[in-house]
Amino acid sequence: TRVGVFFGGISVEHEVSVISALQAMKAMDDQQYEPIPIFISKDRSWYTGEELLDIEQYKELDKLLEKAQKVTVTRDDSGKVVLQKDPVPKFGKKFVAEIDLAFPILHGTFGEDGAIQGFFELLDLPYVGCDVASSAAGMDKVMMKQILRDSKLPVLDYVWFYSNHWVDDSEEIIDMTEEKFGYPVIVKPANLGSSVGIGTAENREELEEAVEEAMGFAVKIVIEPMVEDMTEVNCSVVGDFEEVEASVIEEVLKTEEILSYQDKYGGSGSKSDGGAAKGMENTDRVIPAPLSDDRTIEVQELAKDTFQILGCSGVSRIDFIIDKTKDKVYINEINTIPGSLSFYLWDPAGKNYTELTHQLIQLALK
Ligand code: DAL
Ligand code: MG
Repeated sequence: TRVGVFFGGISVEHEVSVISALQAMKAMDDQQYEPIPIFISKDRSWYTGEELLDIEQYKELDKLLEKAQKVTVTRDDSGKVVLQKDPVPKFGKKFVAEIDLAFPILHGTFGEDGAIQGFFELLDLPYVGCDVASSAAGMDKVMMKQILRDSKLPVLDYVWFYSNHWVDDSEEIIDMTEEKFGYPVIVKPANLGSSVGIGTAENREELEEAVEEAMGFAVKIVIEPMVEDMTEVNCSVVGDFEEVEASVIEEVLKTEEILSYQDKYGGSGSKSDGGAAKGMENTDRVIPAPLSDDRTIEVQELAKDTFQILGCSGVSRIDFIIDKTKDKVYINEINTIPGSLSFYLWDPAGKNYTELTHQLIQLALK
């Protein structure tokens, strides 16, 4: 099976995606699968070629892209999905490769939000992971909360609005926020991955600043109460609407600012220990998280419910906040294409990266 692995992309998590994808292609069982890299540059050009499999070459991206073959992905006359040279040459061969299946390993914008999934739908190409609707719902923090709350799953309470409402009447939004939560609160663009545009506020003035900042990234804004004494835990889920399993749980100890390009490629990135997750957020993890048996089961059940209620497929990682004061768990967000595909949460229970990629491809072909 020829597996077109789509990675890179235009999101701030471009570099993380490169690391995640190269790991996954290396992990695929080469007896069964032929991974075909399809790198999407930050300026939206698409490339293929063997050289794209070597992480070292990304440090000199211009040179790498000169060697790689620029392509488009299209259906040929017989309905097969093929990579064609871009631009199509007037004479000679335009065909580069054929793919049987798409495996998007693109984080954030147009990878996790349903956009590229829509492209695969148009091509009538089977693909790994969530469909258009579940991707879009998982990416929009407000929609996700609305859907989960409708099923009585625990999410932090929130205030949300569009930027024009803020411009018309910010007083009303601030009053409502203060009445509901007091301070501190956390302000987020509704539809961005990673920590971009997120700010906290201790008072009215800071709230105004945080909203203005967030509005630089999105027109839909969400405000939540900030849980001060908290533990962050994550759990991965594999499956589809029929059958799901939950991974071991990780506790996230510290999350720093987004690292530079150089840090990401130069650092722990290409290691086999969850490097892409680490590449994005310089994170220390405890696996398994030191939770009671009851809490572990509670988190795993909530992770599976979240995945299925949103209509997910493939592998996702659901991130939770445990409010230590109230002793309560909240679903914070879902990553429908998680860093390193969360393989490091499956490995401890005996499902290695090769088995994980096999299972994901088989789910897509089901
Ligand atoms: N959005 C990054 C890749 C993650 O949380 O896994
Ligand atoms: Mg995330």
